[in-house]
Amino acid sequence: QAPAIILGIETSCDETAAAIVVRDQSGNSTIRSNVVRSQLDEHAAFGGVVPELAARAHVTYLDHIIAQACREADLTLADVDAIAVTAGPGLVGGVLVGLTTAKALAAALDKPLLAINHLEAHALTARMTDKAAFPYLLLLVSGGHSQFVLVRGVGDYQRWGTTIDDALGEAFDKVAKLLSLGHPGGPAVEAIAMQGDPKRFKFPRPLLREARLDFSFSGLKTAVRLQAEALAPLSDQDVADIAASFQAAVAEVVSVRASQALERFKAELPQARPLLVVAGGVAANRSIATALANVCETAGATLIVPPIALCTDNGAMVAWAGAERFALGVRDPLDVTARPRWPL
Ligand code: KG4
Ligand code: ZN
Repeated sequence: QAPAIILGIETSCDETAAAIVVRDQSGNSTIRSNVVRSQLDEHAAFGGVVPELAARAHVTYLDHIIAQACREADLTLADVDAIAVTAGPGLVGGVLVGLTTAKALAAALDKPLLAINHLEAHALTARMTDKAAFPYLLLLVSGGHSQFVLVRGVGDYQRWGTTIDDALGEAFDKVAKLLSLGHPGGPAVEAIAMQGDPKRFKFPRPLLREARLDFSFSGLKTAVRLQAEALAPLSDQDVADIAASFQAAVAEVVSVRASQALERFKAELPQARPLLVVAGGVAANRSIATALANVCETAGATLIVPPIALCTDNGAMVAWAGAERFALGVRDPLDVTARPRWPL
């Protein structure tokens, strides 16, 4: 049996992305191309992603991004064994652009279609980058999600905790907005926080004392807003100190939750060495990654943080999830529907 060549398409938020990934019988992967066009300019003036503009930009660019992914992989669409596409969750206008394009290609080229859950793509990325073995604990922290998931196998996921309000990336984005740091906020908050004093403000650590694996970030965001209003007009130092104090609160909450999750892992799966995999754009944050590395060291667990270009939205993770499902014999019908909400 020859290695499978999979085209992956991602359009569920503000990245138009396509990639070609090859998976061999032993589960080894090769990323032949991974093209991502971020819609920074389209949404810059609005301080956040505008769904209608995102969908239109996907329409404009997706064909070219797919063609470029093939070119860079040095093959044509005829060489592809299957077409994998994000079918949700996400902004439905964008998802429909990717899904309709993938269906058209699958029909025209007579290739199998694989409708991929975007969260599953994030969840399986570490198997492509680091050959992560099941079972492992996933911490998915992105603009749309903050959750712990026990990943036991392809298609075998158990959610252990989620956010009861904002996602972590969303909290970074909102804090950035109220500090006038622009969008996307995460990298801007992290950069400015390096000049700040993380101890100047003692922001709340929501749910920290509760014995559950859920997150809540909206109260923290409100505390940041009230502090900013109380100090206005803000000096550059005030902005840096608020950003640093916010990030310190977040890092502490994430660490405490992660260590609780690892304890549960050890109790429920005593036979397996705990493996914590981080995915989603917030994984780029160095203070959070450092805090997680410390937690894992204390817990005797292994931490995997895939390269950041594969932690944020991209086509290679979708292609890889497709490759894993393809290898298991999964094929989806051409009338599969887009799912704006689709829990793992
Ligand atoms: O995974 P992703 O690219 O898209 C979603 O599926 O949501 O994550 C984007 C999110 C944004 O909210 C962005 O602000 C956040 O990840 N992010 C960061 C950093 N880089 C990106 N948050 C904190 N620190 C960073 N360095
Ligand atoms: Zn994502």
